[in-house]
Amino acid sequence: MDIEILGRALTTLPEDDDHPYRTGPWRPQTTERKADDLEVIGDLPLDLDGVYLRNTENPVHPAIEIYHPFDGDGMVHAVGFRDGKAFYRNRFIRTDGFLAEQEAGQPLWAGLAENPAKSPTQTGWGARGRMKDASSTDVVMHNGVALTSFYQCGDLYRLNPTTLETLGKATWNGDFPSAVGVSAHPKLDERTGELLFFNYGTDAPYMHYGVVDPHDSLVHYIDVPLPGPRLPHDMAFTENYAIVNDMPLFWEPEALAVGKYAARFHPEIPSRIGVIPRRGQTAEITWFEADPTYVLHWVNAYEQGREIVLDGFFQHDPEPPAGNGTFYQRMFRFLDNELMGPKLHRWRLNLDTGLAKEEPLTDSTSEFGMINGTHAGRKHRYSYSATTVPGWFLFNGIIKHDAETGVEEKYTLDEGVYASETAMAPRVGSTGEDDGYLVTIVSDMNRDLSECLVFDARTLADGPIARVQLPERVSSGTHSTWAPGYQIPDWRTSEDAATAIRM
Ligand SMILES: [Fe+2]
Repeated sequence: MDIEILGRALTTLPEDDDHPYRTGPWRPQTTERKADDLEVIGDLPLDLDGVYLRNTENPVHPAIEIYHPFDGDGMVHAVGFRDGKAFYRNRFIRTDGFLAEQEAGQPLWAGLAENPAKSPTQTGWGARGRMKDASSTDVVMHNGVALTSFYQCGDLYRLNPTTLETLGKATWNGDFPSAVGVSAHPKLDERTGELLFFNYGTDAPYMHYGVVDPHDSLVHYIDVPLPGPRLPHDMAFTENYAIVNDMPLFWEPEALAVGKYAARFHPEIPSRIGVIPRRGQTAEITWFEADPTYVLHWVNAYEQGREIVLDGFFQHDPEPPAGNGTFYQRMFRFLDNELMGPKLHRWRLNLDTGLAKEEPLTDSTSEFGMINGTHAGRKHRYSYSATTVPGWFLFNGIIKHDAETGVEEKYTLDEGVYASETAMAPRVGSTGEDDGYLVTIVSDMNRDLSECLVFDARTLADGPIARVQLPERVSSGTHSTWAPGYQIPDWRTSEDAATAIRM
């Protein structure tokens, strides 16, 4: 393994840091590395061809008062696969906020758990305003570049998907809605090359929806009026519709009026799911009412006759009681899936009657579901989601759910080993929905190292078929994507990959 140091960030974190989300599996990186021809335990298949990209909240400064793990600066880790070999890169995203704080040598914006009035600067980003746009939430491919996003709306930063060099911000030919930004989870339709997105904020109409074409032009942008400021995190789409949501978990209006941001769940208010023709106008939005909950992430949606089938994670307790735990336990209970109980769930939205039906798909608690990206917006059968460690925002296993049979296959990591969101990588020449590989980065506290694990998606429970050794133990992180070689400019998919015969 050849390792080259690409850069080092200034850090002002204390040597004896004791914050639970800046230590242990969350110990951040300050060094950027490039490593080629990584050591592999097992054999990498020749038809695994592309790059696994994972974003990470990676702080380099302490908070002004209270650090929340969503405040960390964005760092992307990339593990690329070609010709049965693997390479690695990790780079900070050169956001305006990261660069300004590197220059200042201190935090300049209040974080999620802090009062925005305490920000040393009046500027900032986010639906709340006066936050640092860390671009540390998701990473998606569009038009040959990787785009990183911020969970509370911000710019989209453009990264070269193999070198991770920051190429600047998305402008969409000057039409990027920079005043509001774009929410955490823009969606790529691999079939059309379009990017669908929404944003939200505290000013009416409180939400917008838009479409960017495959050539990076904003071609559609409409108001989505809501009853008040809301906190939607994700969207879904089908071949002909975009799906947004208005869930009864939102900032308390009375607190908001005096500049405080306290999210509360209202079990007496139904959930609302908005269906918009993909190029439709505001007047064409249809709202469906459903059982009250909060959905952090959807899995996928597709059309079946005059019904839209929408799968996502229904939280059974979106606002768990504070309990008698420590300060951090009470503060971070919204990161504990064992308390909120998200479970895979299906909504059926009837376009003729305007009524929704819904049903649980499983008893298992999981979140962060991924599918084969070529099925996004089209019928899918399999999803791959994460199980979590009670009390922690850490993933300790993977569940493959078969929506046709209800059968689940699981793989549980060793205690002390934590995965990120697991992406599905269809093999080159794939002939079935689960004909490919599952890829995730693990932080192994037992052996003080990180590996990128590769599973055969058809035999998840058998464990990884290859373990790629990374140059150092990397911080636990969350959202990821699979960038297939054919989506990456100048990528050379070898003939071996195209002709590999699956054993
Ligand atoms: Fe998310």
